[in-house]
Order: sequence, then C-alpha cells, then structure tokens
Amino acid sequence: MMLSHRVGRACHVLVLVLCLSAAEDFDWSANNHDSFYYGTFPNGFSWGAGSSAYQTEGAWDKDGKGLSIWDVFTHKKGKTFLNDTGDSSCEGYYKFKDDISLIKEMNLNHYRFSISWPRIMPTGIRSDHVNEKGVKYYSALIDELLEHNITPIVTLYHWDLPQVLQEKYGGWQNISMINYFNDFANLCFERYGDRVKYWITFNNPWSVAVEGYETGEHAPGLKLRGTGAYRAAHHIIKAHAKVWHTYDTQWRNKQRGMVGISLSGDWGEPVDITNQKDIEAAERYVQFYLGWFATPIFHGDYPQVMKDFIGKKSAQQGLGTSRLPTFSSQEKSYIKGTSDFLGVGHFTTRYITQKNYPFNRGSTYFSDRDVAELVDPRWPDPGSEWLYSVPWGFRRLLNFIKTQYGNPMIFITENGVSEKMMCTELCDDWRIQYYKGYINEMLKAIRDGVNVKGYTAWSLLDKFEWDEGYSERFGLYYVDFRSKNKPRYPKASVQFYKRIIKSNGFPNQREVENWKTKATETCSTSNQLLAAEEQRNTAANILRLIHDPLTSHMEMVTEVVVPTVCTLCILISAVFLMFLLRKRN
Ligand SMILES: *[C@@H]1O[C@H](CO)[C@@H](O)[C@H](O)[C@H]1NC(C)=O
Ligand SMILES: *[C@@H]1O[C@H](CO)[C@@H](O)[C@H](O)[C@H]1NC(C)=O
Repeated sequence: MMLSHRVGRACHVLVLVLCLSAAEDFDWSANNHDSFYYGTFPNGFSWGAGSSAYQTEGAWDKDGKGLSIWDVFTHKKGKTFLNDTGDSSCEGYYKFKDDISLIKEMNLNHYRFSISWPRIMPTGIRSDHVNEKGVKYYSALIDELLEHNITPIVTLYHWDLPQVLQEKYGGWQNISMINYFNDFANLCFERYGDRVKYWITFNNPWSVAVEGYETGEHAPGLKLRGTGAYRAAHHIIKAHAKVWHTYDTQWRNKQRGMVGISLSGDWGEPVDITNQKDIEAAERYVQFYLGWFATPIFHGDYPQVMKDFIGKKSAQQGLGTSRLPTFSSQEKSYIKGTSDFLGVGHFTTRYITQKNYPFNRGSTYFSDRDVAELVDPRWPDPGSEWLYSVPWGFRRLLNFIKTQYGNPMIFITENGVSEKMMCTELCDDWRIQYYKGYINEMLKAIRDGVNVKGYTAWSLLDKFEWDEGYSERFGLYYVDFRSKNKPRYPKASVQFYKRIIKSNGFPNQREVENWKTKATETCSTSNQLLAAEEQRNTAANILRLIHDPLTSHMEMVTEVVVPTVCTLCILISAVFLMFLLRKRN
C-alpha cells in the first residue's frame, strides 16, 4: 500500500504529537481528511503570489550584475535537466510591469519577490562596489507595486549567493558570510525600507544547506556529507539573527516594518499512529526539517532530538565532538525571538516510520535521522516527483507550528503544485483541486486558532525550476519559454484563485462548483491560442521526450487520475515515439 519514496527531500519532525494533543484543542487522532469546510477568511487576510530572482529575472549578466553561484552552477554541464540555465528564463527583469498588471488583474494584495544579491553588490561585498543600476531596478519594481496598491514582501536571500563569496570563502561554510549578508541586508533596508514593510531574510534555508552543501544537487554543488549542511545552517541561523537585530536597532523605529524568515517543511505523519516508534520517527522527521531552524529562532537552540541523534552518531564514528555545531549561551539568547513573523513554505506530506541506518555506510544528514519516508500511491502526484497532494498535512503542520512555537504570526510564503509534461495544458484542473484543498485546510487551521495572516500561491509564473530546469511548471501563468518574448498565458487556476480571493474564501458548495466549471471554460480559448503555437514546435517536443525517460511518464499515467487530457496527450506522444523507434530498427 505504501510506496517507498526517493530519499533526498526533506525531513522534519513530527513532534510530540500525542503529548501535545492532551493539552491542545487540535485533535491529532481525528481523521477528517475528506471533509470540506465552507466559510470565509478573517477580514484583511492577504492574498498573493510569489517568485524569486534567479528563477524569473533572466538578464544574468546585464547592467553590471555580478555572477551568482547559480549562474556558475548551471553553466557547468550535467547539473540541470537538459543543461538548462536561468540566463533568460521569463525575462522578468524586462517585463516586470507586464507581470504587475497580471498581479493586478488577479486582485492580489501582495507580491513576494527576491532581491538578487550580486545584482546590487556584484562581488557580494559592499565596500567593493554597489551597482546602482541594480538598486534602481528593484526600486522601480517596488514603486510600481505600490502604485497599484500591492504590498511588496521581499526576500533577501533566495539562494543566489554572489560567486565571489563562494570562491573566496567557501560560501555558507564560512562564518564571514554573516557580516557580508548583514551588510547587504542593511543596504536593502537603507534603500528600500521606506517602502518595504515585510522582509524575509532567507527562503528555505533547509534546501540551501542540504541540497547545496550535502547532496550537491543545488549550487554550489558541494557534497560535504554529514557536516556541510549543519555548518551552513549554523551560519545561516546566525546571519538571520544578526540581520533581525540590525533592523531592530537601526531601522525599526523609523520604518516600522517586520523581519521574518521563510522555512519550508513537509509534514511527517506516523505510518501507524498507535506505534510509539513511528510517532517518534515522525517527530524526528519534522524536527530535523522545520524544527532545525524554527527551534533556535523561537527557543534559542537546536531541537533536543537533533542534538541527541547527531551527537550519538558522531560518538559512534569515534568523533570527539558532535557534527552538529553548538551555540554558546550568549548566542542562544541573541538568536531567540528573532522573527517578527514566520514565513511557511509547504508543498507535501510523507508517512514516516523508524529505520536504523548502519553507521558503517558513512554518516549523512539523512542517515542521522533514522527514518524512512513513504507515500500513499493514491495521493495525486501530477508534477514534481516528490510533490504529492495531501491537503490535510498542511493543517497538521500549521497546528504543529502553533503549539511548538507559541502561536507566531504566520505568512504562507509558498504553496502550490507543478505539472511535468511536454505538451501544453492550460486547463489545469489538478492545480485547481490542489489549491482548493490546501487553501481549505489552511482555513480549517485558522479556525483551530493558528495565526495565519496571508497566503502566497507559488508561483505567479512558470519559471526555472533549479536542477529540474524548465521541466516542471509551478505557474498560475504558463510561460512559453521557446518564444523569444516569453509570452504569458493564464491557466484555469488563475480564474479559480481569483474567485477565492474575491469571496475571501469558499461561500458555499454550489458557487465553488460553479467557479470550477467557469474556470475550465475560459481556459479553452487560451489553450487554442497556445495550441497553434505548439504545433509549430512539435518536433522539438518529441526531441525533448526522447531525453526524458519514457518510464516516468508511464508511471504518471498509472498514478494520476485528474489530468486526463494531458495524460492522453502523453500517451499519444509515447505511441508515436514507439512507432518512430521501431521504424529506425
Ligand atoms: C548536458 O551536458 C552533458 C555534458 O557535456 C552532455 O553529456 C549531455 O548530453 C548534455 N545534455 C543535453 C540534453 O544536452
Ligand atoms: C573562511 O575564509 C577565510 C578567508 O578566506 C579562510 O582563511 C578560512 O579558512 C575560511 N574558513 C572556512 C571554514 O572555510
């Protein structure tokens, strides 16, 4: 019934679920996965969409921008799907006004974007050089948003470290990043803080640490197993705290904004909720994921279970000290309480069970946790391999955050789903289904008392998806990357999201069903437009299919129920391809 799932993405914890349930109103043992709640969000709830600099801007070497680790990483062959790069991506650098009109069109309250550090400080070091052209670009973007009454939520670090800092110092392995990042943040507060009131220091530091310095799937591509991720995370947490203090002491009085961090976390549910080992394993999964960062920021130190497990395994290896660095007591009090709000990125859930890793295989972040991740094959999995749609996990994660960290103010900074297909489908009813389910579970969490103030759909546009290149599309808007001008086309989910925003929730069943029908009707026109364009590119599509292992599409066919049109499209391509191959023989 469960499928063992690819390692690599995530980990966290579950939490003293049972112990907590006694004290809290949330009933962890209830299984109300399928019920739908009709109702509205609190007044003033903020709706938005997001993007990040490297994934959308393009213009990688324009107007004095310096290189980032992602420019260098993607220009090496074999690092990304089809060796794709973000060199031009959506050309967002040139089209930001168009994109803001799309945002306006949807009636969003906020837009989340990130500032590329090397675009405004080419070497990453303030005293070397500040690139005024880069500074101006973000200034114009902020002004344009404000002119349209859209609140900017600005991320300072969405993974694009200046390459010079990587080469000279080893990037986040080096403690000197803390001061360089603080200088960069300070410049941003100085130049934009009169207009920006919501700052996010880091986006998903888990991914920076684990994929950048442990597995090497992401830039800078280092494989410092068992130590690299912990050291990177240690410096990131300190850098975050320093930037929060800088804002607090130098800018808060004048600018009256807020500084937070955006943490990503999958939910981990025990395979067997009556089995104590599973319960503890699921807790470890969540603590090693979200808790790794949230616990120091809210309580001053790493989760006890991380200290215990990594300490024990380090000793087994014969190391004199734990591979998990420690905070001094001064550092603990400096770090504790440094988030005015918590940004939460959430996409998916895993079932978790205990699994012992023999330590002779070498220690890694993943083997330190002693867990195995499983998925239910009935969960929809339309896009990215790791992204199963499990809406009820979202409510659980939010309740976990509420109980563990003292009910902080939360902004959902990322939530959404991708599609992975070579043929075009703007009638994305599986994305509608995903948003409907996840937003509804968020509404239930708010009724549980979780303090969620805003929601950011991820993402506004299809964009460069890191090591997956352009093969996975998260956008509300489809981007035709093969056209030079990178035109945007609305998917059906745009219409659906608009209706949720307009009603500030889900008024009643009849209306919500009606939204879905209407959304699917309107997308067919744009579909036709795009189809004409697509026909011209058929040959290119087939070439791409050959590079993409056919078997992964076949799995999709058996697993995905919702996107029937696309499935059909893939099938036809597959048959055609088989025909082609047979002819060759
Ligand atoms: C990507 O680059 C590697 C190394 O040069 C090469 O072997 C591979 O064929 C390239 N892939 C594509 C799709 O061009
Ligand atoms: C940090 O950078 C300094 C200066 O380049 C270097 O001397 C030191 O070895 C680096 N530390 C680490 C852990 O890489």
